[in-house]
Amino acid sequence: MDEQEQVERTGVTRRRVLSGAALFGLGAGADRLLGGFGGGSSLKAVSSEANEGSVPFYGAHQGGIATPAQEYLHFAAFDVTSDVPEALRALLQQWTAAAASLTAGEPYQSPVKPELGQVPLETGEAIGLGPSRLTLTFGFGPSLFSSGRLGLGGRRPPELAPLPAFQGDNFEAARSEGDLCVQACAEDPQVAFHAIHVLSRIANGTAVLRWAQPGFGRTSSTSTEQTTPRNLMGFKDGTDNIRAEQTDAMRDYVWVQDADGPPWMVGGSYLIARRIRIIFDVWDATTLEGQQRVIGRDKLAGAPLGERNEYDPVDLNAMSNGEQVIPANAHIRLANPTNNDGQRILRRGYSYSEGVEPESGEIDAGLFFIAFQRSPKRQFIPLQRRLAASDALNHHTLHTSSAIFAIPPGLNSPGGFIGEGLFAS
Ligand code: HEM
Repeated sequence: MDEQEQVERTGVTRRRVLSGAALFGLGAGADRLLGGFGGGSSLKAVSSEANEGSVPFYGAHQGGIATPAQEYLHFAAFDVTSDVPEALRALLQQWTAAAASLTAGEPYQSPVKPELGQVPLETGEAIGLGPSRLTLTFGFGPSLFSSGRLGLGGRRPPELAPLPAFQGDNFEAARSEGDLCVQACAEDPQVAFHAIHVLSRIANGTAVLRWAQPGFGRTSSTSTEQTTPRNLMGFKDGTDNIRAEQTDAMRDYVWVQDADGPPWMVGGSYLIARRIRIIFDVWDATTLEGQQRVIGRDKLAGAPLGERNEYDPVDLNAMSNGEQVIPANAHIRLANPTNNDGQRILRRGYSYSEGVEPESGEIDAGLFFIAFQRSPKRQFIPLQRRLAASDALNHHTLHTSSAIFAIPPGLNSPGGFIGEGLFAS
């Protein structure tokens, strides 16, 4: 029985039906699906209620960068299997249309309920969960531009190069790189999963999933409205991150500017992902003082060593009994902008936990590090080179995967598609 039949048979009040629509996660689409019921104003009220917590899809920048970090991640990398540029273009068009619906909390394609003999396009697992502040962020990997493939050889932005090898890298190739990426973030893990599920079905025949990474518990704050979360090492993470409200810092360190080029990347950014396993056996056996000296901050308060409160300034010159208060190899000293030519990055990573590592019997959990920056060459690469060489954290972590993607700008209004500029002559 569909909702309309149910009302006719049972006489359930319109208010109940409408909250049922909200429960069904029909969001703005509920207006259309329940179109025959009249009572426009209450329909609107319920529809906006159901949409509470949605992040606008259209804008100068793609969502999922400056928008406040949600609690859950489902990240996916795809390889393009077609060598026809038109097929890639059509895929990006379809992904854009689907993303506009899904981020609004609407099903992928209406009607939600097809005929019994049809294969449902909407897979259904997010029905009832609402928009959950879903954001979808699309990107292009360096391999997409390999010469001879798709005719994009000459279009690769110079900043989009495979990352150099860093000391201690220990990658699983099957979890690294990729032609395309989609970062799905939401307040509900099933909403994030659903988005990747639907987008991978749409990709059938043009691209295949290469790897995927679920994540939970944001490990940074990207807005001044958010409190600082803790990572799986128990430390507050994200204290000195760039916040969306710091518009000068966003311009200088996150968004690609006119002068940087290429023109189709202006307003975009570069995403670098690293799957970093925490070696808990070693970390959990380290004294509290030792742990604090690794990070350079107080574990409970999050204050820089030698200070009292989380947001007290980091004093890298502070000395006590002839020793540096923040040790020479502490993570926050080496990552500090003063030791990195003034450069900063926007961190937006998530914790992950994926059972037990079969050979060692250790927990396979850690940080799925994600950073956005305007220039990997000036920002992530020198920073990671410095950290890989001497960060005290290296005794407690292992980088098991790596990827870089160019994230094109957002779409200001319906009509075009994400990444369209790549095809402009
Ligand atoms: C498992 C790996 C890592 C853990 C557990 C970790 C943890 C932390 C913590 C607790 C802080 C201090 C609080 C804050 O300001 O956010 C911090 C700061 C920072 N981390 Fe990491 N981090 C990791 C990997 C990385 C990597 C790979 C990079 C970049 C290549 C990085 C870059 C930074 C930066 C830029 C800061 C802020 C420094 C400042 O401005 O003072 N971190 N990290």
